[in-house]
Amino acid sequence: MTRSWIILGATSSMARAFARSVAERGDRVIVAGRDMADLKAMATDLALRGAASAEAMRFDARDPATFGPIVQKAELEPGEINVAVFVGSMPAQAEIDADPALISGVVADNFTGPVRFLAEIAPLLEARAGGTVVGVSSVAGDRGRISNYTYGAAKAGFATYLSGLRNRLTRAGAHVVTVKPGFVDTSMTWGIEGMFLVASPEKVAADILKAVEKRRNVLYTPGFWWLIMTIIKLVPERIFKKLSI
Ligand SMILES: NC(=O)c1ccc[n+]([C@@H]2O[C@H](COP(=O)([O-])OP(=O)(O)OC[C@H]3O[C@@H](n4cnc5c(N)ncnc54)[C@H](OP(=O)(O)O)[C@@H]3O)[C@@H](O)[C@H]2O)c1
Repeated sequence: MTRSWIILGATSSMARAFARSVAERGDRVIVAGRDMADLKAMATDLALRGAASAEAMRFDARDPATFGPIVQKAELEPGEINVAVFVGSMPAQAEIDADPALISGVVADNFTGPVRFLAEIAPLLEARAGGTVVGVSSVAGDRGRISNYTYGAAKAGFATYLSGLRNRLTRAGAHVVTVKPGFVDTSMTWGIEGMFLVASPEKVAADILKAVEKRRNVLYTPGFWWLIMTIIKLVPERIFKKLSI
């Protein structure tokens, strides 16, 4: 079957590992993001690794004018259309507290931009009666914590949107996988103190591909984060509000 993947936020190391896996099985790939030089080099590499076709396109979550051309390009792609959203940004919560003007960018990168793009491309998946949307949210969205509650709130909004989109697309035979990674060793977490059980981007990407193949609904990766977050969600609010986690 001909499969095309549109990968947003493709310069993320998780996205790079995911893109390599789908290229190696011969899928078509469009890598999208802000750094065109990096994305073009990546597309060349993906073609050498076996992608049936590989192209770079500009996507900026804060600039909706970049969304339409990608959707139009996807309409010309043959076969099954799949979308993977790795876009996200996480400024330190202390920086956001000091400068609340940063909030709109965090919400655009983690919520509004990805959600609007998915709203624009969803009719195509419905028309093709198949395909998968992978949306990378975070365990940070499961409960607001002092260390990253603005980012966490945007990720929670994204996860809720993905749940509704899954409800919609399942009627057309398409599917949505919500991904909730724990701590992953990437540029986003570089230099952050106090991280534990840190996973590699390759492990997360492999878990995501398995979840796509098994049509999982919600993926905690690595899997033990499901247990950790179940415990964290059970802590009563009167205790939780005093914790510094
Ligand atoms: N690392 C973790 O521990 C962790 C845990 C849970 C969830 N996540 C989520 O996993 C996803 C991948 O993150 P990562 O850890 O691999 O970090 P990363 O390397 O910082 O990747 C973030 C990606 O988002 C892109 N991006 C940021 N703002 C954008 C914008 N306005 N428009 C378009 N693209 C934009 C970045 O592109 P540029 O190269 O142009 O900056 C990059 O490709 C993110 O959604 C993140 O929130 C990460």
